[in-house]
Amino acid sequence: MHIAVRAEEIREQFLQELEGLPHDAHQIKLLKDKYLGRKGLVADLFSTLKDVPVKDKPNAGKILNELRQSLSIKFESYIKTLDSNGENMNHGDLTLPEDPYLIGGIHPLTHTLNEINSIFIKLGFSTVYGPEVDTDFFNFEALNIPKHHPARDMQDTFYVKDGVVLRTHTSNTQIHTMLKNDPPIKIIAPGRVFRNEDISVRSYCLFHQVEGLYIDKNVSFADLKGVLSHFAREMFGQNVKTRFRPSYFPFTEPSAEMDMSCFFCDQKGCNICKYEGWLEILGCGMVDPEVFKSVDYNPENWSGYAFGMGIERIAMLKYGVKDIRLFYEGDTRFLGQFV
Ligand code: PHE
Repeated sequence: MHIAVRAEEIREQFLQELEGLPHDAHQIKLLKDKYLGRKGLVADLFSTLKDVPVKDKPNAGKILNELRQSLSIKFESYIKTLDSNGENMNHGDLTLPEDPYLIGGIHPLTHTLNEINSIFIKLGFSTVYGPEVDTDFFNFEALNIPKHHPARDMQDTFYVKDGVVLRTHTSNTQIHTMLKNDPPIKIIAPGRVFRNEDISVRSYCLFHQVEGLYIDKNVSFADLKGVLSHFAREMFGQNVKTRFRPSYFPFTEPSAEMDMSCFFCDQKGCNICKYEGWLEILGCGMVDPEVFKSVDYNPENWSGYAFGMGIERIAMLKYGVKDIRLFYEGDTRFLGQFV
């Protein structure tokens, strides 16, 4: 076939296909390859040039060059119209509004824990971590809670198997730390704890605590009061008052619970503090000599205090959260408020 006729055929076919071309990057590339690619129709026709009689070669060459040029120009200007219509295949329409996207944030419990940590770290405490699955010895026995002791009922325990529990409090870490180190000791131990309780707005089968333990020579209850009152003021504001109520824990003697003045109502009485003006914050006390004995510390030489607080409780008070379950549900409508 005469080259000029075939060239005209290709041109028309190309224009037709270009017109019906879907605005799709892949289809556009296919079309370009089909006509202008290394093995495309235009290249095909070029390869027939060798069979053209010598005298016709210059003219045929010119026709082919024009074909290639005109297809390229048509193709490029087609791409340009896509650009100006905002349908560029490479980078989308830059004038469209951004897709809404969610920014992750620090979980309110992590945030609360970070704040608690930093207050105690400034006071010279270091952070240690204990195991969540532990033996009866660390969770109970060494803390002066023998088998059949009524205090075991205070914390409904998940048993993994006989003698192995999900820790019911971070106090197990007191024992791990004391068995591994000689005094003096000044640590906080944050972590997850587990209790087999009915799930409600107030309690969950899993929650978090921060344990504190300070052991040295001549540590007094006044030291304990000083440090924990400082903590309450740093955490909730300098006007916060604290009081210590006698309480009972098998591993501390004397034991106390620390309350702080209700900052919701300024102690006028509200439903958060149940019209008492005080909020219960944590349990604490002087380390019981029985605990020292179980870790081979001489109670004649050493004294110390311990405390334990619930991170959820502190976060709920601090942020006015009424339902503890919200912390665990991963609902971004809740979590997003803390970003
Ligand atoms: N372990 C106690 C609890 O979970 C809290 C506590 C810790 C009390 C240390 C005194 C000393 O309730």
